[in-house]
Amino acid sequence: MTSAAKQKTDVVPANTAAALQRAADLLRVGELVGVPTETVYGLAADAFNPDAVANIFAVKRRPSFDPLIVHVRNTLNSVTALADEGIVDPALITESMHRSLDELMATFWPGPLTLLLPRAPKIPSIVTSGLAKVAVRMSSHSDLQALLDASCLNLAAPSANLFGRVSPTTATHVLKDLDGLIPLILDAGPCEFGIESTIVDVMDDGAAVILRKGAIPPETIAKHVHIQQRQHTPATAPGMLEMHYAPRVPLLLVNEWVNQANTFDAKASIGVLIPYPDDKAIEVIRELHPHSSIEVAILSDSKNCSEAAHNLFSTLRAFEASKDAIVAALPDQTDGLWPAIADRLQKAANHWANARMNVRGST
Ligand code: TXA
Ligand code: MG
Repeated sequence: MTSAAKQKTDVVPANTAAALQRAADLLRVGELVGVPTETVYGLAADAFNPDAVANIFAVKRRPSFDPLIVHVRNTLNSVTALADEGIVDPALITESMHRSLDELMATFWPGPLTLLLPRAPKIPSIVTSGLAKVAVRMSSHSDLQALLDASCLNLAAPSANLFGRVSPTTATHVLKDLDGLIPLILDAGPCEFGIESTIVDVMDDGAAVILRKGAIPPETIAKHVHIQQRQHTPATAPGMLEMHYAPRVPLLLVNEWVNQANTFDAKASIGVLIPYPDDKAIEVIRELHPHSSIEVAILSDSKNCSEAAHNLFSTLRAFEASKDAIVAALPDQTDGLWPAIADRLQKAANHWANARMNVRGST
């Protein structure tokens, strides 16, 4: 089945033996399946099947330079086990790197930590976009683990949204983006974390570089390995795009709204996304655009960053379906998941700032 072909997309509860078997059968013949994880939903294919993996890029309309994470079953929790499986090349792992990897795997796997490891030749180069390292993740989601067992596969899976859009945290979100493009979505309800895994690259000297802020805060990782600040190294992180997570309607940060409010119709309906109760941000928006109908969503009333992360993408998706624009306040907290939340909002705003520039540039 090629990506262009229109097909019926079934959404079925993930937690039955029949559903898992059907998903496993599809994956084994190279089809794609929408799967739950503890972070966001993924779009899975057999990681060792280059044609199936190519179909992920086609369905998502994802550029081929943006590599995929390989999801593994929970018995592969060591460098040796991953090497035996044909995922990792142990010859390229130094002793210091090995020690850090052991520590990180023992502490955070299964869970929302993705590790970059030297790629074994059995991993098709399309998975890593030709890079020397492969991203590996052991999800803690019991239905995904059951699927990995039932299929005996390792699953390449990006987030199950169209490229550049808001990540899906429910099966309905996946259906919205991929209806007619894949045969099956396994529904396990809303994802626990609601924000993607933290991606860590362990260097030869054992130090860890955080490539993507995610569901495990840097300070938690720093208790186990030395964290080295990230240099700007596009070659190791081609997918760390500065524009991403874009809702379908314009998203502006509060300070951008100050200059752009006039470009919106006075009757525009605006969704205001506030990380935690913050009267100042709401006041600013009301003053600047008094006639708009405004709906305010507070990600966490109690300023709990896990709750805020859990609500972030579903709020963006709800607003994009019902509002003309979204105005977001960035959290100013620097600990926990707040920086990861700020990162998603900043990137969504970058997308729309860039779109405004392109419009101006073309006139
Ligand atoms: O929580 C998650 O990580 C979710 C769930 C489905 O597991 N997956 C996810 O995948 O967020 P995706 O493809 O949407 O984001 C993965 C990021 C991309 O920015 C990609 O460029 C980067 O990981 N990545 C993957 N492999 C890489 C590699 N070998 N080197 C550098 N970056 C890599
Ligand atoms: Mg993604």
